[in-house]
Amino acid sequence: MRNIIFILLFVVAFSYTYAEFEFAGNIKNYKVFDNRIEFELTNSKFNLYVIDNNIIRFRFTNQKDFSLAPSYAITYPLPSKSKFSLNDQEDRLIIKTDELIINISKKPCRISIYDTNNNLLNQDEESFGVAFDNDEVRCFKKLFNDEKFYGLGEKTDGLLRNGKQYKLWNTDFPAYTSRSDELYQSIPFFIGIRNYKAYGIFFDNTYKSYFNFGASNNRFYWFGAEGGEMDYYFIYGPDIKRVISDYTKLTGRIHLPPLWSLGYQQSRYSYYPESLVRTIANTFRERKIPCDVIYFDIHYMDEYRVFTWNKERFPDPEKLLRDLKNLGFKVVTIIDPGVKVDSNYFVAQEGVKNNLFARYPDGTFYQGEVWPSWAYFPDFTKEATRTWWGEKIGGFLNQGVEGIWNDMNEPAVWGQNFPDIVLFDDNGFTASHKKIHNVYGLSMAKATYDGLRKYSNKRHFILTRAGFSGIQRYAAVWTGDNIANDEHLYLACTMSLNMGLSGVPFIGSDVGGFIGEPSDELIIRWYQLGAFTPFFRGHSAIDTRFREPYTFGDFVEPDIKRAIQLRYKLLPFWYNEFYNSTQTGLPIMRAMFVNYQYDENSYYHDAQYQFMIGENLLVAPVLNSYDKFKKLYLPAGRWYDWDENKVIDGGKWIIKEVPINKIPIFLKEGGIIPMQEVLNYVGEKNVDSLQFLIFPSAKSEYTFYEDDGISYDNENGKYSLTKFLIEQNSKSIKLSVEKIKNDYQSSVKKYNLKFVGIDKPRKINLNKKEIKNYSYEANTLMIDLDVSNFITLELIY
Ligand code: GLC
Repeated sequence: MRNIIFILLFVVAFSYTYAEFEFAGNIKNYKVFDNRIEFELTNSKFNLYVIDNNIIRFRFTNQKDFSLAPSYAITYPLPSKSKFSLNDQEDRLIIKTDELIINISKKPCRISIYDTNNNLLNQDEESFGVAFDNDEVRCFKKLFNDEKFYGLGEKTDGLLRNGKQYKLWNTDFPAYTSRSDELYQSIPFFIGIRNYKAYGIFFDNTYKSYFNFGASNNRFYWFGAEGGEMDYYFIYGPDIKRVISDYTKLTGRIHLPPLWSLGYQQSRYSYYPESLVRTIANTFRERKIPCDVIYFDIHYMDEYRVFTWNKERFPDPEKLLRDLKNLGFKVVTIIDPGVKVDSNYFVAQEGVKNNLFARYPDGTFYQGEVWPSWAYFPDFTKEATRTWWGEKIGGFLNQGVEGIWNDMNEPAVWGQNFPDIVLFDDNGFTASHKKIHNVYGLSMAKATYDGLRKYSNKRHFILTRAGFSGIQRYAAVWTGDNIANDEHLYLACTMSLNMGLSGVPFIGSDVGGFIGEPSDELIIRWYQLGAFTPFFRGHSAIDTRFREPYTFGDFVEPDIKRAIQLRYKLLPFWYNEFYNSTQTGLPIMRAMFVNYQYDENSYYHDAQYQFMIGENLLVAPVLNSYDKFKKLYLPAGRWYDWDENKVIDGGKWIIKEVPINKIPIFLKEGGIIPMQEVLNYVGEKNVDSLQFLIFPSAKSEYTFYEDDGISYDNENGKYSLTKFLIEQNSKSIKLSVEKIKNDYQSSVKKYNLKFVGIDKPRKINLNKKEIKNYSYEANTLMIDLDVSNFITLELIY
């Protein structure tokens, strides 16, 4: 008898440990609603939502019901009604929208998605489809050998995801390498491209998740998670741009940041005491190296207590911040989530009293060790905590702080294993750390952003290390603790491109590398890249030598300064691209293939690391410290080589000499680039004239955006738009400039138009009258104009 019990116990234990995947099952019945179809399957429930003609949500659970907890990522409201047809055939259901045909077999339930020309776009693996193993959920898709995969946000191994498996679990990983997997951000969104047609899949699941793009098999790709639902959105393009744009329609787009945050930002772990901060600020101004921001890393605090100052190092922070402001500097302070366990400390007291920290299931507060030693962790998934935190941030801003830098919010603790059993509010639904871990940073950023919005109508800047899909709504992101070596210069580019492809446009790296010492050549190349990444900050670790641009000596400083100055010259252009991204969700710094999707070359070799800023400016960065020549690819069309002032025909690879002071940049024909004089900081003086670099093509258009760069008035329509239209034929080049929205009074009174790559015209008419005051030299024509609501200019040949 005892033996039998023993064997039974063994069998039970064995079958539990080695449970097998159970598949979603056969369709038993279904019900059609206004915006969805609800299916009863033998082993699960399945809801198909038609979000739009090209966006379908597929949601499966093997639980009794779907979760009612709101998504952390999706902000787009579910339409209550949508347009689709359903055709019930014997063995399958055919659902049609204006753009997609979804073919679902009944036994078993398997999904195939086609475009309206019956081209297969995506298909469940025929034997597997959606599967469950205890809490684990998976979706198996057919792998085509000619499909390319991109995305997943902050990943280090180049751009192409094929043949590899990835894990998403926010991780503090100082000195990561190009072979590391989990990092600070989790973005469960990827793009598939086959026959040049793109679709995207967003897997809305916050648990530890996995994505396998044919690693170790040639049959399927799969994605899944250790808990939650199999809830994914299929987004059809076929344009890559539309896929990213629609993904960010679902998960949100950036708000226009303050203009100063597009300038150069200077950081170090850490600048203290006060006298050092003053020296740094004064030296930037003395040496006329533009800079807008100084960062205060953890040493400004009183023993790392958030929302406090160390009074020995900073006896009068308000005065210091006022003085810095007078020098044109904004101050950004680090705010980590860990609140020091200390019964005499007001933040700890308030959090304990009001039950705002994460708890163990027995009700006691979790304590983890981090900079301040033992710390509580605010439960940012609880509304009361977010409101409280927002108020704390507001109070801190009263002292003159202009931006908040969220760090260690993976959340990171020494030992790197925040216990899974810790509980969070989950917006009233209660969930364990398993579900909340990946959205802890996102929730902290939300608390910070909402707090700042309530605090004033002024735009502030938020930077975060950790995040999840949707983080772009609240904060800029930097790529964490990198290293001062060539590998990381390359990563600074590829990781930023990956983030852009994954809906996070405001991105950059620690310029120069956080850990270790860069060589002279490396630091120059890094500043040259940094000047073309949306977020541009120099930062370095506690044990590195001082790294401010002027500390490198005569060989290096002028080249770094030139790169920073170029950034400031291009600020109107950058700001415009940020504005465009608020409207489209597209990356600002974007992998070239986003714009040249149908050009095979743009996906390969070094061309895949070339990038565009917006539509027409191509940057082919030098991504190591030693190259003196660069092989680069120019897509078809004519290109203006910026520093050599010459026009090159594209559709080919070229080799360009790249001495250390050169950044290879090219302007596509039709491109228009607004520029301004170099200032030492944003707002140093009113900008009253702008230069427009114009490289005419048969027809092109550019819309130029202006607002105050400071307040949220832009969201109430206080901005202006000026449309530039160029038309060129063999007899003339016509430019019309028209204010199409005029609800912001710009300080700009003069335009300097600089046409490049053109022959000398016979005659020039301004508003139909001939003018003579222009200059022409070396294929370049310069004309100064007064700004008015409507201008037509005709270059006649
Ligand atoms: C982390 C951050 C780094 C910061 C340091 C001290 O390592 O990633 O940027 O300087 O903490 O706060």
